[in-house]
Amino acid sequence: MRKILITRRLIKSSEEYASKFFNVKLNKEDKLLTKNELVNQSYDCDGILSSIAENLDAEVISKLSDKIKIISNFAVGYGNIDVEAAKKRNIVVTNTPDVLTDATAEIAILVLLGAARRAKEGIEWANKKNWKWSADFLMGKQLTGSRLGILGMGRIGGAVADRARSFGMKIHYFNRSRLKKNLEKDAVYHKSLESLLSVSDFLSINCPATKETKHIINEKTIKNFPDGAVISNSARGDMIDDEAMVKALKSGKIFSLGLDVYNGEPNIHPEYLALPNVFVLPHLGSSTIKTRVAMGDLAVSNIIEFFKTGKCKNKIN
Ligand code: GLV
Repeated sequence: MRKILITRRLIKSSEEYASKFFNVKLNKEDKLLTKNELVNQSYDCDGILSSIAENLDAEVISKLSDKIKIISNFAVGYGNIDVEAAKKRNIVVTNTPDVLTDATAEIAILVLLGAARRAKEGIEWANKKNWKWSADFLMGKQLTGSRLGILGMGRIGGAVADRARSFGMKIHYFNRSRLKKNLEKDAVYHKSLESLLSVSDFLSINCPATKETKHIINEKTIKNFPDGAVISNSARGDMIDDEAMVKALKSGKIFSLGLDVYNGEPNIHPEYLALPNVFVLPHLGSSTIKTRVAMGDLAVSNIIEFFKTGKCKNKIN
């Protein structure tokens, strides 16, 4: 029987599923492994089922045992893995697309609404118990009738668009390539980021973290937004230059920001925690029972498929 290391605790049923097919090394305490622990614990394994909390960079990949043939990431994003370094060592990398689309789109809407409707301040006031109704109490921005820019119109961006349409938002998007008409529906395609931002009363960031998208929202590009725009990020922290964003939030150029993801997670920029107009969640995007079970099962199935056929439909390198 082949052996795999599952770096973090999964939902029990997914671990049981894995045990039917593999000799599994589990992380019962669910402790984050250091780079050395990851290398040492996987030395006698044929595969690794990793999470986004581990950084499988070129250095770690270079130290992995020759036995390792697959890294199956428990996530759709794989910015935590140096995919090219893995390819050079003939290690297949897989991810878990589709199964988390709906859950993540729900969180994208939650952080967008949380920011727009000043939920952070509202919760603080409600907890203080001394709030009073008034006609201008915590007035926010309304989604209905506004323009929503979507940066990255993949599966999750598309699911965010579907939900936003039901709020009566007009959808605009910027993507590596234009979508086919039937997928685009009524969304307006923009050829450049600047053009998208210039019409984004609201922006939802849903693109993958790559070299090209790092700090794509920065001091220069922020200038393109209409004054008082609302931004949400439920993809990866990398897309936002935090210092530039803090400045824009303080000046009012950006009305508010909703975040589920951060540069250097689990750390959160201290200004984001201090500012009243930043609504934050601790990376809950795919965290529903249904989705986490589906992700665990898919991450295991990817390894089964690979060892059975030598291929895997969710292979990314
Ligand atoms: C979660 O953040 C994922 O990429 O699946």
